[in-house]
Amino acid sequence: MTNFSELIDRRHTNSVKWDVKDNELPMWVADMDFRTLPAIVSAIQEKADNGIFGYEEVPQAYFDAVQSWYEQEHDWRPETDWMIFATGVVPTISSSVRRLTNVGDNVLIQAPVYNIFYNSILNNGRHVLSSDLVLDDQDTYHIDWEDLEAKMAEPLTTMMILCNPHNPVGMIWSAEALARIGELAAKHHVVVLSDEIHGDITAPDKGYVPFASVNQTNAQNSVTTVSPSKTFNVAALHAATVIIPNEALRAVVNRGLNTDELAEPNSFAVPATIAAYTQGHQWVHELRAYVEDNKQTVAKFVAESIPGVKTVAGDATYLIWLDTSEVGMPSDKLEQFIRKETGLYLSDGTVYGGDGREFLRMNVACPKERLMDGLNRLKQGIAAVK
Ligand SMILES: Cc1ncc(COP(=O)(O)O)c(C=O)c1O
Repeated sequence: MTNFSELIDRRHTNSVKWDVKDNELPMWVADMDFRTLPAIVSAIQEKADNGIFGYEEVPQAYFDAVQSWYEQEHDWRPETDWMIFATGVVPTISSSVRRLTNVGDNVLIQAPVYNIFYNSILNNGRHVLSSDLVLDDQDTYHIDWEDLEAKMAEPLTTMMILCNPHNPVGMIWSAEALARIGELAAKHHVVVLSDEIHGDITAPDKGYVPFASVNQTNAQNSVTTVSPSKTFNVAALHAATVIIPNEALRAVVNRGLNTDELAEPNSFAVPATIAAYTQGHQWVHELRAYVEDNKQTVAKFVAESIPGVKTVAGDATYLIWLDTSEVGMPSDKLEQFIRKETGLYLSDGTVYGGDGREFLRMNVACPKERLMDGLNRLKQGIAAVK
């Protein structure tokens, strides 16, 4: 059994997350406080011991490992011919926006959504068009289908970036919802880029559904991005895989990735990914149980001890979406207030667009002891507002 409760000091390690003051507790960026799978560390050590770090190609064993992971974990067997190595999910999204759309086109998203999608669209001179997700009375988000179709039907809409599962609201999209998105996208000639980086971390009894696995319509009109980076906490290894069943679409994206110089691995990306996908099953299952327990701890603590704050129940990701609409302070100000008052550093929901100005995002991928520290600080911060 992995000991996810071990407290590891990450201060002064060049960590983006932990570059904070001594009294501060960071629970913002999607980066876990757990040490990665030991087999990944061994694979990196073995490579380092070799002492030669020349140019590398991506071997068939890499693609076989990705295939078998998706087959075993997600009941989907993507052909290895459909896969391309890339140095990250965000670089692939930006490159695909450049290759698959024109300057001035609309790229459709579903706000509130991962803030960097906005950068990939706007920095390339395209427009962001959002079909905002709608929060219902049961604190669950759903898609406004009429609005989504109207926005897909706009002549300038040529791409949709789907977050599957969804960051920050934690939604797992059902096969039915994915089929409906796929059908509308095909009808209106909108290509779907499905970012599935959070797909491995779901509640223990709930799996996510890969967009391209649903049917041929979805498979033939999509670009899927996956990576071990969130799952195994190896973001700085810069390894991702792009899966594109449609040959013509694959050729265009492949050209873009090569032109943008995003298709060559560093020395550790390949051995680490192979180790993750061939030896990481049990570790990830234990991780999912630990994260779920943390999420339930947060839900209970917030419901019992933090009046005015509600958790939105999502079955995916290690991120919790906190509804602070009753606190009476917009989330950009609230995030700063809590940080100043208690040292707890959360993500301000405003950056995700949509209704995010009334939410904070909390990263719960940390040892229980640290989680409780964060929750007590949150309680203290909210009480101080009142
Ligand atoms: C939805 C989503 N996509 C992509 C990324 C980052 O991907 P990469 O580091 O491979 O560029 C993140 C990181 O939080 C994310 O939440």
